[in-house]
Amino acid sequence: MYYIGVDLGGTNIAIGICDEERHIVLKDKVPTGAHRETDRIIEDMAGLCRDLVERTGISWDEIGYVGIAAPGTVDPAHGVVMYCNNIKMFHYPICDKLASLLPAPKKVYLENDANAAALAEAKVGAGAGKDDVIMITLGTGLGGGIVIDGKLYSGFNYAGAELGHMIIEHNGKHCTCGNDGCWEAYSSATGLIRMTKEKLAETKDTVMWDMVEGDIEKASARTAFNAAKQGDRAGKEVVDMYIDYLATGMINIVNIFQPEVFCIGGGVCGEGDYLLKPLTKIVDERQYGAASREIKTAIRIAELGNDAGIIGAALIGE
Ligand code: BGC
Repeated sequence: MYYIGVDLGGTNIAIGICDEERHIVLKDKVPTGAHRETDRIIEDMAGLCRDLVERTGISWDEIGYVGIAAPGTVDPAHGVVMYCNNIKMFHYPICDKLASLLPAPKKVYLENDANAAALAEAKVGAGAGKDDVIMITLGTGLGGGIVIDGKLYSGFNYAGAELGHMIIEHNGKHCTCGNDGCWEAYSSATGLIRMTKEKLAETKDTVMWDMVEGDIEKASARTAFNAAKQGDRAGKEVVDMYIDYLATGMINIVNIFQPEVFCIGGGVCGEGDYLLKPLTKIVDERQYGAASREIKTAIRIAELGNDAGIIGAALIGE
């Protein structure tokens, strides 16, 4: 049997066909076009599912089920996205909608995107073999997944584990969820781009300006890190501030859960040790009772990289 994992992101819909071991046999992506009507987004999702099955030469009879990892509060029991801030969805029956567009009847499962990624990392990635694993994904939004005793924890109504909406700054930056000061507004890739643009606006003649070729809109989540690596002071200031905010949220979470592994995923993690080393130092030093503890939470970059969402989605129906 094969399983289709769909990772619905703010920027792209990434879909993979996975085998029994949840290795990806074939994957591809299409832009989400998050501003569009949701039905149109799901039509493109179904189109890519059909296309991938055709390209692999597998028959629809060999597909066990389809899993969707979607941002926001999801109700897995009814296959409904209840609320999503980054792709506007409200009580949207995503599973029925996708199922109706597939050429053969298939069970479609649903989970929050970061929960799915956490499940994947806890089962076959950076947290494999560990019971208590927390994962955050640093992308358009900041997603959180909590695995306790090997199982996902999302509260009595599935709305929990929204780690990105922990408020870390009183009256802070506005978040797409409507609140102010959410961790997501600072430590998502979007937050990093915002900080980069703010720094560009206040300092001229920096390496960062060369990198964006004089156009502030060209700033990406890599701009500040790349500039800092070349010794640019403004870039370094952005990177330091970003890492400090990221560490702040992580310290709060470590103090509450003390997970065995704290896994970080999403595009920003492409910075590797340049991100991981200073981040780990701050989290290790500033957590409650730091000096008293020899064994601390292991902070690791997601092993499954950008495939964690797809693999997690393909695992949901297990
Ligand atoms: C949403 C989460 C989601 C995360 C990553 C956040 O803004 O609230 O549900 O997991 O973005 O997509």
